[in-house]
Amino acid sequence: MLDIDTPQPITREELQPLLERLAADAPRCFGEGKVASYIPALAEVEPDQFGIAVCHADGSVQYAGDAATRFSIQSVSKAHALVLAMQQLPPDELWARVGREPSGQAFNSIVQLEVENGVPRNPFINAGALMVTDMLVSKLWMPQNTLRDQIRRLSNTPEVDFDERVARSEMDHKAHNAALGYLMQAYGNIHSDVEMVLDTYFHSCALSMNCIELAKSFAFLANQGVNPFDGQPVLTPVQTRQVNALLLTCGLYDAAGDFAWRVGLPGKSGVGGGIVAILPRRMSICVWSPRLDSYGNSIAGRHALEGLVSGLNVTPLG
Ligand code: DON
Repeated sequence: MLDIDTPQPITREELQPLLERLAADAPRCFGEGKVASYIPALAEVEPDQFGIAVCHADGSVQYAGDAATRFSIQSVSKAHALVLAMQQLPPDELWARVGREPSGQAFNSIVQLEVENGVPRNPFINAGALMVTDMLVSKLWMPQNTLRDQIRRLSNTPEVDFDERVARSEMDHKAHNAALGYLMQAYGNIHSDVEMVLDTYFHSCALSMNCIELAKSFAFLANQGVNPFDGQPVLTPVQTRQVNALLLTCGLYDAAGDFAWRVGLPGKSGVGGGIVAILPRRMSICVWSPRLDSYGNSIAGRHALEGLVSGLNVTPLG
């Protein structure tokens, strides 16, 4: 019989020097990639920064590097928006208007949207996030505040707020997202005012958080749907599994396959340089470094996640 060694996961004491080593190694990636500049307010960030934070399923946190520096969470917020929509809408209603398949296209692509009659492939590409936002706008009185308040509760950080300068900069350069919104409206799939949907979506993307806060805000996905900070269920265990599955298959857009290959965890990236990853039943992780690859994902962030997974001695897909 084959004798397969099951590696022992490392302890919390062993995790701290690993996080510090990953932060110390991150500058090796600082020669590559560029910060996002298609949203002018994002282009101003100092590119050579790196932070990493781990939030254990019980809510305790360990971190290293620039983990307390706030940045624009951008598309990471699409996961929070989906969770809010899953809380607010019956599943049939939600999933009739957005798919659950990887797109294999850039995060802001419009190509598939016309071919597929204005139904976005998944909730994490821009078209899908606009669709989810439309559902929230139709359902909630003040959707962007409801989303912000939920994130405040999940991160146990009442100070979490929008960076209005970033939100305005996105609105001033809205043409691409507006094209997605109006095309979906032409197909009858956007029900609210497109400009209101765009404003709400841009505000969600413009939330400003640090690695510690962002890792904490995803701890419920590592804890079977329960927010460890107040013991309240956010999603059912089945919904939690479903969100993690979507993050694994669609969270990094047309780089989701490569990310699953290298890191093997559900994840969500943003053009602010943040990536969140979930190790189910163990921990949520947030890495941040502003230089991006051509897919819009943080280079040093993805690299650090690869190092973390191998250093943790866990094989979630193994
Ligand atoms: O709508 C946009 O293009 C941005 N607010 C968000 C894009 C983004 O973060 C893609 N992620 N890697």
